[in-house]
Amino acid sequence: MPVLTNIGFLATCKEEGGQGEIHPIKNAAVAWEDDTISWVGREADLPSQYYNEDVFDADGKMVVPGLVDCHTHLAFGGWRPDEFAMRVQGKSYLDIANAGGGILSTVKETRRATEDELYKKASGFLKEMAELGVTTVECKSGYGLSVEDELKTLRVYKRLAEDQPMHIVPTFLGAHTIPPEYKDDRQAYIDLVIEDMIPEVAERELAEFCDIFTEESAFNIEESRRILTAAKAAGLTPKLHADQLTSCGGAELAAEVGAASADHLEKISDEGIAAMAKAGVVGVTLPLASLYTQEDPLNCRKLVDRGVEVAVATDFNPGSAPSYDLPLAMMLTCNQGRLSPTEVLKGTTIYAAKAIKRERKVGSIEKGKSADFAIIDAPDPDFWMYHYKGAQCLRSFRKGRKLF
Ligand code: NIG
Ligand code: FE
Repeated sequence: MPVLTNIGFLATCKEEGGQGEIHPIKNAAVAWEDDTISWVGREADLPSQYYNEDVFDADGKMVVPGLVDCHTHLAFGGWRPDEFAMRVQGKSYLDIANAGGGILSTVKETRRATEDELYKKASGFLKEMAELGVTTVECKSGYGLSVEDELKTLRVYKRLAEDQPMHIVPTFLGAHTIPPEYKDDRQAYIDLVIEDMIPEVAERELAEFCDIFTEESAFNIEESRRILTAAKAAGLTPKLHADQLTSCGGAELAAEVGAASADHLEKISDEGIAAMAKAGVVGVTLPLASLYTQEDPLNCRKLVDRGVEVAVATDFNPGSAPSYDLPLAMMLTCNQGRLSPTEVLKGTTIYAAKAIKRERKVGSIEKGKSADFAIIDAPDPDFWMYHYKGAQCLRSFRKGRKLF
């Protein structure tokens, strides 16, 4: 039975105890059998049966649960560096979208790409994410916006889940924006999402969640409610891109429909925060998107202080967040979101797992959980997020096997 010993600081990240409580154990060891953790504790208490030939040495470093990136748009065609250059010179994300850029320009490229091309590109991203200590990735569709192209993207995720070592959690985001061929008949596109896409996705078991971009410029509250209610009836759990650019009641709707998470939230209202806290909806903060769209500072401090569990993710996509560097998002959440490093760590482990309903399987180092860990070149979370640098992850394991 394999065992990881000589762990200077083990952040178990058990769920109990609130945002900042990571339940650390100093001088720890972890053992596992096949893909499942079988023992966690102080190394001095490690039962003798675990001293065998299968010993990995953490060299006194910190070990954390394999990180969970609970919000990405992983598979897409093309890139949009031109828009980045325009934004830093003062054009807004919405101006660019209204001029035909933004999401629609990626839709064009994604429709043009073959399934194999999307697969190859996305699997390259996953390899690099693994080197950062990430072991679970939620992946959204939403750049196809036709039955065929949405299914093509979700099939890429299905193949990735089968063929490569990361845990993949697929989300259907057909309601990302209205595609050009429906621009004069948005109702018909909404009907297509509800009557064709959702049933196909659910029947083929290509996604577990249904996300939506709830925004004045995308889908309003009424439309979002209709789509998410249909998704729920088909067995998909709702998620929302909510209150990113304007405060339009997205967080309140997330609470009403029992969403697993509401994400972005730069413009969330006080009522929205209270509703999410009451309904137990996880708030996902996306600091890279806030930074790249030059939006207001993150609201995560307020959310935590008012009883919302906050997860932190990259939002990796070619427009508003063209980086999958989760540790960078973590450092930014400290500096710009005013969460402490331990609060942030909880947000990329067990709370991120909750945002994708995987908290029984991943996100903490506990007996019975998937043996997913990352060895970090730091003595504790404060030092890790303070001394931000590349290559902080020295080694990672997923399902008990070396991932990186
Ligand atoms: O999460 N807000 C909507 N969707 C994405 C951006 C997608 C894009 O710009 O391509 C987001 O920020
Ligand atoms: Fe997003």
